[in-house]
Amino acid sequence: MTTKATERKQTMTLDGLEVPFSPGETLYEVARRHLAPVPTLCYDPRLEAFGACRLCIVEVQGMKAPVASCTTKALQGMVVSTATPSVEKFRKTLLELVVSENREVEVNPLRGFASQELSTLVNRYGARTGRFQGKHSGKSNKTDLNPFILRDYDLCISCYRCVRVCAEQEGDYAISVMNRGFSTQITTEFNADLRDSACTFCGQCVQTCPTGALADKKALRSADLPGEIEKTRTICPYCGVGCSVDIMTKGDRMVGVQPAMDGPANQGALCIKGQFAFDFVQHNDRLKTPLLRQSDGSFKEIGWEEALEFAAQGFRRSLEKHGRRSVYGIASGRAPHEAAYSMQKFVRAGFGTHYVDNCSRA
Ligand code: SF4
Ligand code: SF4
Ligand code: FES
Repeated sequence: MTTKATERKQTMTLDGLEVPFSPGETLYEVARRHLAPVPTLCYDPRLEAFGACRLCIVEVQGMKAPVASCTTKALQGMVVSTATPSVEKFRKTLLELVVSENREVEVNPLRGFASQELSTLVNRYGARTGRFQGKHSGKSNKTDLNPFILRDYDLCISCYRCVRVCAEQEGDYAISVMNRGFSTQITTEFNADLRDSACTFCGQCVQTCPTGALADKKALRSADLPGEIEKTRTICPYCGVGCSVDIMTKGDRMVGVQPAMDGPANQGALCIKGQFAFDFVQHNDRLKTPLLRQSDGSFKEIGWEEALEFAAQGFRRSLEKHGRRSVYGIASGRAPHEAAYSMQKFVRAGFGTHYVDNCSRA
């Protein structure tokens, strides 16, 4: 029998059902594929499994204690139970240990993409928030005045998703862990501000944090704005990579951007521009009326009809005098996709030239 055929035949028992798996898959991956609702907190499918929170424990026949399913590989013939009463009780106690020392569990969803994970699980398990008394870990860094990332470590549960995403996805190693036990703390090089670290402000640590301990400061500015948060899927226009993003709005206000975890080009990653540079959309300084430069260099407000007529005359003059290759269209990375499309169509169809470009290509 070929190796491939042997691989195809591997099976295990999951909650009483015989299921196939591929060599190398973890018990959690097999369970998730078969829709067993195993809870996780330190898990992010984009990262190496870490085994910190133990919420994903499952029982394996023949093993004395439950095992973390995210770090245990599936083996031929394993018999696994994902939701026995004792496993569910362990999970509830683990959650109560975590939330007993957190300042708050329900946080504003504007904090980040994954910020609701802890509160969702606390509600699912009916975990009590004040069951365990004693020392608290994590100390918020209120002096870090960077404009983008709130470092609210009173809410940190030491899952290290932030540290791992920074290293494994962004390749930046800007944040790390210092101290041990209750003094464990997420930190930067030499415990300095993020602005003085290697941080590129990609925001990935914010978006993977399951408690909102790391939060989007710019989005939180709209926390008190009335209305529900709506998300609209689109593609970031800033460059040619094509990162999928969810634009967050409240009413007609854009309040933030979150990366699409299922975006084919970015899988949850963004750069500082895609993540945080959206203020221009509603900025007070944004031009709303055409301006015509005068002979003395100053600008005069004019109507759209006049502006379009003036531009058309300019194009005509240039065409007549220098031919079609005298026209070159360049779209802004801050323009909507539809505007960029219309611009290239206008230049190609209107003047018969392919001289078009987009500033985002640079
Ligand atoms: S800041 Fe958030 S992501 Fe980082 S370790 Fe704490 S809880 Fe986890
Ligand atoms: S914003 Fe990006 S680079 Fe900065 S600490 Fe977070 S993951 Fe690392
Ligand atoms: S998700 Fe497996 S240990 Fe945290």
